[in-house]
Amino acid sequence: MTVLALETSCDETAVAILRANRCGHELLASEVASQVAAHEKYGGIVPEVASRNHLIYAPRLLDRAASAAKIRLSEIYAFAATSGPGLASSLMIGASIAKGLAIGFGKRYLGINHLEGHLLSPFFGFESDGDNDIKPNVSLIVSGGHTMLVVVRGLTNYQVIGHTVDDAAGEAFDKVAKLLGLGYPGGPEIEEHARGGDAKRFDFPRSMLASENFSFSGLKTAVRYLLPKVVGRFCETPGIERRLTQTPYNLDEQTLRDLCAAFQQAIIDVLVTKTLAAAQKHRLDLVTISGGVSCNQELRRQMRDASGRKGIEFKSAEPWLCTDNAAMIAFAAVSRLRAGFESPVTEEIDPNLALVSQL
Ligand code: KG4
Ligand code: ZN
Repeated sequence: MTVLALETSCDETAVAILRANRCGHELLASEVASQVAAHEKYGGIVPEVASRNHLIYAPRLLDRAASAAKIRLSEIYAFAATSGPGLASSLMIGASIAKGLAIGFGKRYLGINHLEGHLLSPFFGFESDGDNDIKPNVSLIVSGGHTMLVVVRGLTNYQVIGHTVDDAAGEAFDKVAKLLGLGYPGGPEIEEHARGGDAKRFDFPRSMLASENFSFSGLKTAVRYLLPKVVGRFCETPGIERRLTQTPYNLDEQTLRDLCAAFQQAIIDVLVTKTLAAAQKHRLDLVTISGGVSCNQELRRQMRDASGRKGIEFKSAEPWLCTDNAAMIAFAAVSRLRAGFESPVTEEIDPNLALVSQL
């Protein structure tokens, strides 16, 4: 079966075509159009700009994906789209296109939870290795909008055991990068500057270590309050906000690197400690990580090493599958189709869609 999926939950427009057979999966096309430049000048994502851009990009990506896959849309078995969580006006574009194609060609439609797309992505292998079964695991989803720990017993059998009570891990990376005058998205910028930094120079808090929930806003505030102390020269500027937004120009390169390394290490310590504690508590011998923050090489390395020391297996998706993309939505759709699921075209998008429905 060949599935076409759209992902438009936020500011990336993405289309993928995935062919699945008894032996495995073949990703025939995966197209992503980033809107970072369109939102940069506003200092954040503007929902109306995002949806207008989805409308411009989606038809082009559909064309590009179909020709890369050498397939006609009429040959697609099912059309899928992210149905939540995300920005309502963005979700609507992808879901409406997928529903329209499904109705037009008389095919199946699947609305996919974006979080399930991330959560399943570590199991996405293209080779015919038969290794795509969803094994029981503790799944850490770390993205710009979410940070959660999930006990996964199998496809659709999810139990959320922890979530952030304030900022998501990726949001903390983005906000601290902004404080430091680095670009958006902040995660890759901080990772880059953390190389060659001394993580021990600054002692940032590791919050709520004994709980399965997360909190990152204290860490962000700690960076905010430390900055004037390590900067100095702008102290004559009135107003802390103004002073802080100017600090990057005043930070020497080594201090910037040390700050990035210390901040990144504080996040990694929290993520690794809680994920492994959850695996031990729930007696699971596999941990997986997914979402944009799981691109972070240092997080992957430390999670792998710490898991290995406890005899726990570690799995993560290829970095390009960790940030928002439609291949993970297509993979979730194929997994669900195989398990007998499909969605009615009357199903609505839900900006607050939970991973586990609260009936
Ligand atoms: O999964 P994603 O693409 O979108 C959401 O569903 O939110 O995640 C985006 C987030 C951003 O906050 C970005 O800063 C973070 O992932 N991110 C990283 C890295 N690459 C992306 N965080 C840390 N290190 C990275 N290398
Ligand atoms: Zn995401």
